[in-house]
Amino acid sequence: MSNFLEAMQADDIDAVLAVIESQDDDDAEQAEPGYRAIGGCLDQFVMRENGEIIGVTGYLTPPACDQTYWLSWTYVDADYANQGHGRKMLTALIDHLKEKDARMLFVNVSDYVDDDPEEGDDGAIYAAALHLYQSLGFKIEITHPDYYDKGESQIVLGLRLSETPAMIANSDIPQENVAVNFKAVYEIADTDDAYSFAWGDEGEQIFSIEDVRIGLDDVRDKEGRAVFLSFPSNYAGVDQVLIAAGFKKSGVLHNYYDDGIHDQHFTHTL
Ligand SMILES: CC(C)(COP(=O)(O)OP(=O)(O)OC[C@H]1O[C@@H](n2cnc3c(N)ncnc32)[C@H](O)[C@@H]1OP(=O)(O)O)[C@@H](O)C(=O)NCCC(=O)NCCS
Repeated sequence: MSNFLEAMQADDIDAVLAVIESQDDDDAEQAEPGYRAIGGCLDQFVMRENGEIIGVTGYLTPPACDQTYWLSWTYVDADYANQGHGRKMLTALIDHLKEKDARMLFVNVSDYVDDDPEEGDDGAIYAAALHLYQSLGFKIEITHPDYYDKGESQIVLGLRLSETPAMIANSDIPQENVAVNFKAVYEIADTDDAYSFAWGDEGEQIFSIEDVRIGLDDVRDKEGRAVFLSFPSNYAGVDQVLIAAGFKKSGVLHNYYDDGIHDQHFTHTL
């Protein structure tokens, strides 16, 4: 790890939340329970200036993937923003992941614009992040309109960290007959009324159109606006059932699970 990124400790949580709060109060509120959970500071890093924490970044490791990571809360204190700290911090994190043989790094960004910004501010609080990620080589993989809220999209970007290009063509990965069953519907964290279905791999086969309709009715009863789902691209038959039940394909996170096994996203608006 670089000499200016330090592993985050539980004692750093308040200072880190103050950094996030300097940019956005709501984000600080949403970030807090994650940091306070057991292991919540694991793989998170802070950057200091004159002993004070001025930046935070880190990564999360999703299950069932080969060397894939998500960028976690990445913030520079508003008083120190636009001075190159964010680029320095992210470059160091990317180098650290490459040293660990990471293959893919993904990040979510919102296109939220604060309609009551401070004077001289355009209110587009994530515009610098989007610019920075793209200038570091991240490519936009999926844009989900109305994801976080009506009028607020989710933009998912991906960066290949492995130096070996993914040569595997879709057709080289055989489709697998898998069992997938739905367990519950849940409101997606950080969204207003966007839902997903929790699923497992118990049972004999994949869910039926009727199962999907039951889930959609449940979301309607909860006054959900939309359902967002994703499945590995090699799960046989999943896309046919979802499309028959009214879902649309909304994009693909390429090489998400492994080279040639993508994360196929589906959306149903209600
Ligand atoms: C994203 C963030 C961490 C970057 O930290 P930083 O120290 O300001 O970053 P840097 O100074 O290294 O780089 C900022 C870049 O954004 C550019 N930028 C600044 N404001 C911008 C805007 N409104 N639109 C587009 N680009 C902008 C700067 O010109 C600079 O690009 P350059 O290096 O090509 O000139 C910081 O802005 C932040 O905390 N933002 C709010 C939280 C956030 O969006 N986090 C990511 C959520 S996924």
